Amino acid sequence: MTILVTGVTGNIGGEVIQHLLNRDVVIRGLVRDPKKAAKLQAQGIELAQGDFSQPQTLDPALQGCETAFLVTPNEPRQVELECNFIDAAKRAGVRHVVKVSVLHAGELPSKFQQWHRQIEEHLEESGIAWTHLRPNMLMQNMRWFAQTIAQQGAFYNSVGDTKISHVDARDVAAVAAVCLSQSGHENQAYDLTGPEAVSFDQVADYFAKVLNQEVKYVNLTPADLKAARLANGEPEWYLDAEGQLFDCWKAGAGSMVTTLITDILHKPATSFELFAEYYAQVHAQDFSTPTKG
Ligand SMILES: NC(=O)c1ccc[n+]([C@@H]2O[C@H](COP(=O)([O-])OP(=O)(O)OC[C@H]3O[C@@H](n4cnc5c(N)ncnc54)[C@H](OP(=O)(O)O)[C@@H]3O)[C@@H](O)[C@H]2O)c1
Repeated sequence: MTILVTGVTGNIGGEVIQHLLNRDVVIRGLVRDPKKAAKLQAQGIELAQGDFSQPQTLDPALQGCETAFLVTPNEPRQVELECNFIDAAKRAGVRHVVKVSVLHAGELPSKFQQWHRQIEEHLEESGIAWTHLRPNMLMQNMRWFAQTIAQQGAFYNSVGDTKISHVDARDVAAVAAVCLSQSGHENQAYDLTGPEAVSFDQVADYFAKVLNQEVKYVNLTPADLKAARLANGEPEWYLDAEGQLFDCWKAGAGSMVTTLITDILHKPATSFELFAEYYAQVHAQDFSTPTKG
């Protein structure tokens, strides 16, 4: 069986590849720039050059694939880009597409939830078998906070003391690998969460312990957080979508916990405390202040 994996240079797709490596399948990775995936080629993975915004490049990449993993970053053309891929998968006769969606797709006003549901619907209507993976916030988002943790011993957000069931992208990827390579997951939507909901104060404590330094969570007003991030060059549409999402999280929408990861992987979902140990070690460089001189 040949499986096309998209987003192989990103968070989730890169981990999907690693989880497929010990399975009896041929793995093909879709890349825009093969140079960025040279390591994967060294691992024996076929690379196909393609771009979601150029549909004609997707046809040869999907040729001969039975299943495909679909992930794109949040960007203004996300619906169009993913629909291009779904249409190409249909032309190529792909049997099953496993798509990264988001928790509460279609149920919240944030663009992220609205766009993902539009894409889910396009996939459902395509006639291709589908699996929607709907993760809560990824623990790997800690990468956004590494710089201020290193420089100021602090990270900033506006969700207050609300508890969120953050999930490890490695667990999401492991579930994707199962869905891509084994039958029984067709036409299912999976809400994927960590094993417990935790506050950012708790997350700060976990990182303080593993980094052996002070780490505190600083809560800003939504307006102050937006102003700071706009000044940092982040796009306004993204900050507004995230702000809407944070309002929903503050009302409790992000605290639900499901057991799907444990049910599918037959092992516990990774806790934020364990994730912090792994992440601080693997990304130690990101959490260290640049040396002067
Ligand atoms: N972060 C969260 O908390 C969270 C929670 C729930 C759901 N999600 C969903 O997860 C998705 C993001 O996943 P991720 O974190 O794994 O993404 P990511 O790390 O940003 O990776 C995105 C991947 O997509 C590739 N890509 C971008 N534009 C492309 C194009 N035009 N053609 C082909 N490939 C393209 C990138 O390749 P290049 O190397 O070429 O750029 C990269 O490999 C989003 O849809 C988001 O809504 C995220």
